[in-house]
Amino acid sequence: MAKLQVLDHPLIQHKLSLIRDEKTGSKEFRELVEEVAMLMAYEVTRDFPLQEVEVQTPVALAKSKVLAGRKVGLVPILRAGLGMVDGMLRLIPAARVGHVGLYRDPETLSPVEYYCKLPSDIAERDLIVIDPMLATGGSASAAITFLKDRGAKNIKLMCLIAAPEGIQAVQSKHDDVDIFVAAVDERLNDHGYIIPGLGDAGDRLFGTK
Ligand code: PRP
Ligand code: URA
Repeated sequence: MAKLQVLDHPLIQHKLSLIRDEKTGSKEFRELVEEVAMLMAYEVTRDFPLQEVEVQTPVALAKSKVLAGRKVGLVPILRAGLGMVDGMLRLIPAARVGHVGLYRDPETLSPVEYYCKLPSDIAERDLIVIDPMLATGGSASAAITFLKDRGAKNIKLMCLIAAPEGIQAVQSKHDDVDIFVAAVDERLNDHGYIIPGLGDAGDRLFGTK
């Protein structure tokens, strides 16, 4: 079974509380989502392998470590996943970015695909699928299936807030995908919104309704 990790770093938790607050406007919301994504990227990449190198400092030769040439791909689920890309790229600047466009049909809550553009070598990359919300899990599961169908083998999922239903849905379909979240909330309401959650992530990021 893939692992679920709740990233409980105090800075992440503090910023998440500000993100949840209905009084937080789009500009601040965007900035906070970017900052939390950057902090989460630090934890999500914790298992990246290192290799030893020798570095000449101004005083001596140091045995030091660098990342062992891992190729990373970030895959935001449009729209709301876009809000997390820049924060992650601040820490993983060499990552390639693929986009998967999915929206939830408001009646059925099933994901509808409308866009896909991925790096050509996704099979060789460590992919991190990013989306602020894991609600029913339909969108994340569909995006992961989509990537696997195109050869992806190594996939992690990173979300700000998850409902237990969404975690369960992804784990039951993709037991090889580790899930990283900042919070697991109580439940979904009848419209598939996370309670207490943060509302509609896409609308709050982009100021739409
Ligand atoms: C939101 C969110 C996820 C999805 C989560 O996107 O960003 O992609 O809902 O719900 P699920 O787990 O039940 O699939 P939405 O469909 O509202 O599209 P948007 O980002 O374009 O607003
Ligand atoms: N999508 C959102 O943006 N918010 C939710 O609570 C659920 C799905």
